[in-house]
Amino acid sequence: MNHFVYKNDDLYCEDVSVAYIAEQIGTPFYLYSYSTIKRHFTVFEDAFTDLEHLTCFSVKSNSNLAILRLLAIEGGGADIVSGGELFRAIRAGITPDKIVFSGVGKTPKDMEIALKSDIFMFNVESDQELQALDRIAKDIGCKAMVAIRINPDVASKTHPYIVTGFGENKFGIQIKDSLNTYALAKHLKNIDVKGISCHIGSQLTEINPFVEALQKLREILKELKKMGLDIKFLNLGGGLGITYSDENPPHPLEYARALRETIGENIVTLILEPGRVIIGNAGILVTRVLYTKSTANKRFIIVDAGMNDLIRPALYDSFHAVQPVKMTHSEMFTADLVGPICETGDFLAKDRKMPPFEPGDLVAIMSAGAYGFSMASNYNSRPRPAETMVKGKLFSIIRSREAYEDLISGEVIPEFLQ
Ligand code: LLP
Repeated sequence: MNHFVYKNDDLYCEDVSVAYIAEQIGTPFYLYSYSTIKRHFTVFEDAFTDLEHLTCFSVKSNSNLAILRLLAIEGGGADIVSGGELFRAIRAGITPDKIVFSGVGKTPKDMEIALKSDIFMFNVESDQELQALDRIAKDIGCKAMVAIRINPDVASKTHPYIVTGFGENKFGIQIKDSLNTYALAKHLKNIDVKGISCHIGSQLTEINPFVEALQKLREILKELKKMGLDIKFLNLGGGLGITYSDENPPHPLEYARALRETIGENIVTLILEPGRVIIGNAGILVTRVLYTKSTANKRFIIVDAGMNDLIRPALYDSFHAVQPVKMTHSEMFTADLVGPICETGDFLAKDRKMPPFEPGDLVAIMSAGAYGFSMASNYNSRPRPAETMVKGKLFSIIRSREAYEDLISGEVIPEFLQ
């Protein structure tokens, strides 16, 4: 459920018309609905109320400070993968005791900053990383709380680029090696191994892979008990899918029920790292039609947002619904909605039925809240778009559109070229 609805043929975000925002700030821009984010987070949280748990929003899905602040106010923690995300999470008011650090390539500097910030836990993905973390913690004079990330080798039906828990992926430690890693962790003086974690993939629309992964972790938990390890935290990562088109992903309640049943009697605190399910359908990208043109067998609608603003269609061939900001009720046409970037892959929708858009029309690209702005770039030297948030009748810019000066910030012409 989201708060992007038509009122008298005009698309609104809560109580503000999308066209009004476009008039105020120009296009393209991202637009997020406060009430939708809050609702998604609350529904997710409520699904787990009877389980000891911590919900750490996956910052990579959307790292805007205002969004992180909203989630901090709601009691959320953060799942981070870099020093930059740590900086953002803390700046937004997420307390370090609710921050978990994932990722296969944590740099020594990032580990040091995270240890000094006293974050809650590291999800460690290799023996070498474990040893590095131990060394850095020793230098600082502290202990690092750690979960070992297991690759449970389960198949999940999603785009191959976002599967992470299949045997051949780079993520986590293979099950067969995991007990050795725990044995190593147990002996490292500056490591406090208290958790087990996994993340099997993103945009999963079935419950089974989660259950299968959890069953495998349960088996490892038994072995760890025998080794005398007191594992208190089980982190199942993120990955719950959303509806972009006609997918029918499990409701958080169903997801929580399945996890509860599978965990059984194991006394652990569950850590969850949802990203997309919280923010995906709470944001849209608004763009304006520049031109239209037709070839013998194609109709193109050229808009002012491109793959630098939203790369998901180009990168994963992903589907984002295309909606007019002003409903026209006219006949639909099949067309490609494309951006201004000099790449054939620069499309937002392909061979899609859409209204007969004309230059000047506003178009909403739906379900763009997750991995939209956070994956945006300056390719073709295009300033990144503005981000805005609406709460009821209130509308605010939460990130200004970049200026040309921002494009060259940090660039230097050396003396020998002057
Ligand atoms: N935890 C870990 C360790 C992750 O790697 C991820 C996502 C998440 C949590 C959050 O997953 P979510 O709940 O959002 O599915 N750029 C791609 C998605 C990449 C996901 C990477 N990892 C996309 O646009 O679909």
